Parts: sequence; structure tokens; C-alpha cells
Amino acid sequence: MKAAENWIAPSILSADFSRLGEEIHDVLDAGADIIHFDVMDNHYVPNLTIGPLVLKSLRKAGIDCTMDVHLMVKPVDRLIGDFIDADADIISVHPEATEHLHRTLSVIREGGAKAGLVFNPATPVTLLAEVLELVDLVLIMSVNPGFGGQAFIPSALNKVAQARKLIDTADQPIRLEIDGGIKADNIAEAAAAGADTFVAGSAIFGSSDYAATIAAMRSALAST
Ligand code: DX5
Ligand code: ZN
Repeated sequence: MKAAENWIAPSILSADFSRLGEEIHDVLDAGADIIHFDVMDNHYVPNLTIGPLVLKSLRKAGIDCTMDVHLMVKPVDRLIGDFIDADADIISVHPEATEHLHRTLSVIREGGAKAGLVFNPATPVTLLAEVLELVDLVLIMSVNPGFGGQAFIPSALNKVAQARKLIDTADQPIRLEIDGGIKADNIAEAAAAGADTFVAGSAIFGSSDYAATIAAMRSALAST
């Protein structure tokens, strides 16, 4: 089932971490819908970022927006409870990071969060059919996970279209998110393929005017 409106999700991977709370307030004021929180472990992906303590601190500081946590950690299961305790709204996992995907998705929902499933550029989307009823969000990677600022991989559009077909057969609303190399000049193509949630890290945080960049993305979306 199709979710309602388009969401723009700045990835804080490209934010200034010395002023993280302020950066989040700034992008929300600039029109962001949710915040994308990339967690990397230097094992599942070759980079190391932030964990549940940082999310807890942001919540304590009064940041109450929807937090879209993208876990690039393996094994992933043990960290799920910590992110639920830290008040994550959406928790997304890669199928390669768990031995028992069905159980992992169930545990996320039982903890009260929305469950997301992530597909790397070389991971077949067909797996989604097996767990469709356990998923609230599908995330298609349009770069290989691990770093911000990489070039968009065009074959991701075909995967978005495949995922859209499966999602439209579901009984519950499922968001379709795309992550990696999204900018104002390709966001419309992603939307046309069926995405409704758009992660953008370097395109937003690397720009000098967050509001203008988000507005340019929204006007590109309006043209689809
Ligand atoms: C990559 C992360 C992305 C990253 C996107 O592994 O999952 O969320 O921040 O960055 P850009 O938008 O710069 O490609
Ligand atoms: Zn991400």
C-alpha cells in the first residue's frame, strides 16, 4: 500500500558532528520531514559513526522529530533494544546482518518501532515478498553503504520500481526510501520510479543554504 506524502530525510552523516543538535534543528527548520541516522560499525561497512548513546542525548536535549535509524552493523540484533530504549522511531536492518531476518523484524516491531528492510545494490529485492507483512519501510541503497558523497548508482531506480510493485500488494502502508547520491537533479527520477522518502546527506549538509536546497528538492518532486 502506498504511503501518503513525500518525505525528505537529511542524513546526519554529513552534518558537523561538533554541533549535531544545532545542525538537526537547522535542517528541521529548513523543511526536513525526518532525520536519517546512519550507524556504522567498521565491520559490516568500512566506517565507524555513532550509536544509541548519541540518539539518547539528542532526545534528552529535546529533539523529538522522527528518527530514521539505518543500522549498518553486524550482527545487528543486540543493538536493536538499545535503539528502542533511545526512542528510535524507525529501525532499518540489512538482511546480510542477521541470521534470522523474520525474527529481527518482529523484534523491532514488538519493541514499538517501525521496521525497515534495506537492499544493497547487489541484493535482490525478491526477498521482500517473504517478509512483506513485517515491514513498515523498504530502503533501496543507491550507493554501496559506508560513506556519504558517493555517486548515485542508476540501477537502483529499477530496484525501486520492483519494490514499489511488491509494496502495492501489501495490506499495510509501507514507505519506500532511497539512500545515496540523491540531489535536486535526480530526486524526481527516484520519485517517478516509486520512492516516497528521500535520504540526502552531502547534498543538504554540503550546501550553504539548507532551506534553499530542500525547497529545490521539493519543487523537483512537485514536477513529477
Ligand atoms: C551511506 C549512508 C547514507 C549517506 C548518504 O552508507 O547510508 O545515508 O549518508 O549520503 P549522500 O546523500 O551524501 O550520498
Ligand atoms: Zn543511510
